[in-house]
This record gives sequence, C-alpha cells and structure tokens, in this order.
Amino acid sequence: MRSQVAQEISKANSPEELEKIRVKYLGKKGLLTEILKGMGKLPPQERPVIGQIANQLRDYIEESLVSAKKSILQKEKLKRLSEEKIDVTMPGRVKSVGKRHPLTSTLDEIKDIFLGMGFSIVDSPEQSPEIELDYYNFEALNIPKNHPSRDIQDSFYINEDIVLRSQTSPVQVRTMERQKPPIRVIVPGRVYRADEVDATHSPIFHQIEGLVVDKHVTMGDLKGVLGAFARKLFGPDTKTKFRPSYFPFTEPSAEVDVTCFACGGKGCRVCSGTGWIEILGAGMVHPAVLKMSGIDPEVYSGFAFGMGLDRIAMLKYGIDDMRLLFENDMRFIEQF
Ligand code: PHE
Repeated sequence: MRSQVAQEISKANSPEELEKIRVKYLGKKGLLTEILKGMGKLPPQERPVIGQIANQLRDYIEESLVSAKKSILQKEKLKRLSEEKIDVTMPGRVKSVGKRHPLTSTLDEIKDIFLGMGFSIVDSPEQSPEIELDYYNFEALNIPKNHPSRDIQDSFYINEDIVLRSQTSPVQVRTMERQKPPIRVIVPGRVYRADEVDATHSPIFHQIEGLVVDKHVTMGDLKGVLGAFARKLFGPDTKTKFRPSYFPFTEPSAEVDVTCFACGGKGCRVCSGTGWIEILGAGMVHPAVLKMSGIDPEVYSGFAFGMGLDRIAMLKYGIDDMRLLFENDMRFIEQF
C-alpha cells in the first residue's frame, strides 16, 4: 500500500488530485481506515504490530500529501510568475489629460478680479434665467416697443411674452427686485441673438453683466472699477477710454476701450492700427429702471456694465474665429 500511495502521489499534478488520494486511503471508507477499523478482530498479540505499521503508514501518507501539496503550489507559483513577467522597456499607455476651455479660464479670471473687489456672483437659473420674459429683457430696461433689438429678426421669441434673453441686463432688474441696496453683483451668462454664424458672430454667446447700486454711486466709481478691472485683466499699464454712447437703460452711457494689450497702444493688427480695443458698454443705471425695479432714484444711484466674454477670450488668446470656441475640436482645445 505504501509503494502504491507513493506512486499515486508522485503522479498527482494538483491539490484536487491529492485530496482524492487522501480520501481514497484516509477517508471514512478509505483503504487504510478500513484496516484500522478491522484491528479489533485481530488476535491480541498481533494488534500492536499491525497497529504500529498502520499508524506509521498513516503518518507517512499524511506527510507525503503535505509535502507534495507544497511542491505543487510552489510549481504553480513559479509558472504564474513567469507568465506575469513585465517588460519594463515597453512604451507606456499615454493618458489623455483634459484641458480647460479658454472661455472657462477667461471667465474664472474675470470672476476672481470682481470677487476681489467685493462683488458677488449671480448665476443660478432661478436668478438668471436664459428663457426670459419680454418684460425683463426689454420693458423694464426702458427699451421702447419699436426698438430694433425687439424685432423677431434680432431676438428669438418663444411667444409674445417670452424670449431667449438677448443680453444679461435683465438680471439687473431681477437682482434689484430681489435685493435692497447696497448691491454689487457680476452676472455671467449665455445670451441669444438671431445672428448668422461667421468669424465674429454666433447665435449663442456669453456676456458678463455688472451692477452696483448704493447711495452716492457716481460715474467716477464706474471709471475707477473698470480701470482697476482692465489693469488686472490686461496688464498694469492698460489705460481705459470712455466714449459717449447710448443704451436705453443707462444715462449717461459709454462704450469703454482699453489700450491694446498686444502693442501697448502703438497700433497693430489686433487693434486694427488704432491702439484701442472696445471691450464693453456701461453707464449710470437710468432712474426709470431703478424706479421700475422698486428702488428710489432720489435716494440711490448705480452703475452697470456689460461685456462680451467670447470677444475678450478671443483677444486674450489670439483666437481669430469665434466658431472655434463652440466646435469643441480637441486639436483646438488642447492648445490652452
Ligand atoms: N446689455 C448691453 C448690450 O448687450 C451692454 C450694457 C450692459 C450696456 C450694461 C450698459 C450697461 O449691448
């Protein structure tokens, strides 16, 4: 039996096969177990002799099984390790890393500048809806019924009373209705106009509105704030120029130019040789607008401004076609 077991164990290739051998000899009905069970039937003088042989054989089988199992596992481990061998000279897999969109980086920079001056940001859909009442987009901003921007040629109407906002200025009114002065807010958001797509126009683009309302707010405060903003965004030597302009919801109104950051004002391709770049519209909030929003123009005054984020990002990064901002071509985005 010993040599038979030894032979079977030497042929076994897996722990499962070893287990079968164990059951065959040492299990409840195993061959050796049967012998041990039959001990009682032997004459008394033979029992110790046979018992000793049987016990030795049992020890032998158990030990052989343990050491055979060990060497099988060791062999399996070596086989696994050789299969898992890593070739450290293989080229690695390159993980593509995401990039921030130039509009996002520019907006974050602008937000930071105004946060630093004590403004807060209004951009929730509840406080700054893109689907807007005609009342907020036009009526409450003092824009007369016959104004060209109210034409269906220029704005996207959903019905007579509802329009996709054509500017972020309606949020001026919503903010003043909700909040008593002092008010200092920045409103970044998407706006919509019925423009044909070309290098400088898109039916969807982005504006950043600013509104300050308090006692004794003057045009000097507007100039100070926008001057500080322009120096932070475009560099410390940047100068601003206020040109008289017209918006129905501000009086007086101005368009604001900054010295060209590319040439410092000497004149170049970026500023079409003028040395100046127009970046925003602004003015003192019209008393009629304050009044319609529930703020007493005899007590309070305010200023507002609005700038095009897309245009500023294009200027900052030297992007010459607005469509690139919306196509999400990775070859373009990856450059920032
Ligand atoms: N809403 C104006 C526009 O879209 C810009 C503006 C905002 C002008 C605030 C004055 C004050 O052209």
